[in-house]
Amino acid sequence: MTQAFLVTGAAGFIGSHSVEWLLAHNYQVVGVDNLRTGHLENLEVAQSSPEFEWVLADVCDEAVMRELFRKHRFAGVLHLAALVSVPESFREPALNYQLNLATVDSIARLCLEFECKRLVFASSAAVYGSHAALPNQEFAIPQPQSPYAAAKLAAEVILLGYAASYGLEAICLRYFNVYGPRQDPGSPYSGVLSIFTDRFQGGLPVTVHGDGEQTRDFVSVRDVARANGEALTQMHVVVDRYNVCTGRGISLNQVLAIYQELFPNAPPAKYTAARIGDIRHSRGYPGKLQDMLSFKSQTPFEQGLRELAVGGLTDNHQDRA
Ligand SMILES: NC(=O)c1ccc[n+]([C@@H]2O[C@H](COP(=O)([O-])OP(=O)(O)OC[C@H]3O[C@@H](n4cnc5c(N)ncnc54)[C@H](O)[C@@H]3O)[C@@H](O)[C@H]2O)c1
Repeated sequence: MTQAFLVTGAAGFIGSHSVEWLLAHNYQVVGVDNLRTGHLENLEVAQSSPEFEWVLADVCDEAVMRELFRKHRFAGVLHLAALVSVPESFREPALNYQLNLATVDSIARLCLEFECKRLVFASSAAVYGSHAALPNQEFAIPQPQSPYAAAKLAAEVILLGYAASYGLEAICLRYFNVYGPRQDPGSPYSGVLSIFTDRFQGGLPVTVHGDGEQTRDFVSVRDVARANGEALTQMHVVVDRYNVCTGRGISLNQVLAIYQELFPNAPPAKYTAARIGDIRHSRGYPGKLQDMLSFKSQTPFEQGLRELAVGGLTDNHQDRA
């Protein structure tokens, strides 16, 4: 019998790509989302598969979620649904607590109740904070600097505690800066690349906060979807927390140089004051996930960025696994 997996946050940026990876690898997928920040159009490809079941629901609704677990007896859960905006987590700490911590706990307990062995959780490089040594390694003492990062870290701890207590196969994946098609440029959390793509395509100037020499570890959403899929489906995994990153730091000025080559008539970038609290450099060490899953990011940044810049943010067709 084909194994069925639950993906929460399925209509989101990372969720929709992850659903497609699973479908392309012949798994059944139940995708849950309440469309808080996700979009149904992201699931256009998935919806054409008979192996995909779409459920419009709030993951905080334990009764609805219990019914899904009871009906499908999932082999694994990819839990992506979250309050994804760091600024929003400052404004709405109670909602952040509910969505990014309490609901993770309730999903984990449903896994235990219905003998769903594996739970892959979307954590974040934000748990490291701005003072951790580079490259960020999983053993570093985390220093979360937002309610969002604090909840992600606390959720990791709960899951790894359940792993030790009850044998839940909890895999916490700390994504770095994910980019690619379907990242919503309108959201306050948006990755800088989706905002840049939107502006360059519209012939509008981009704003760079600071001198542009700040660096990020940009990882393609295709690679992230593959990491999610492999973590969910590989037989042997080691319960732990893992970076999902490339190990390479790219500066915003390097990013701009590529866009300027692709859009030679674009207006020049505007440089403004650095934002208080912005991390200067972010880069992860990819070796631990590589050792566990043989996972290596495969999309060279220049290629991924060119595809995004030319293909566009809403392109649903360039990206079949
Ligand atoms: N994009 C990144 O660079 C990045 C980096 C680190 C961590 N993450 C984490 O990855 C996960 C996915 O993020 P994304 O970038 O795809 O964002 P996204 O906003 O595109 O996806 C989140 C999805 O969750 C859904 N959702 C939110 N609350 C829900 C609820 N109560 N019930 C059901 N669905 C709900 C949203 O509608 C959305 O479709 C999140 O947990 C996020 O914190 C993302």
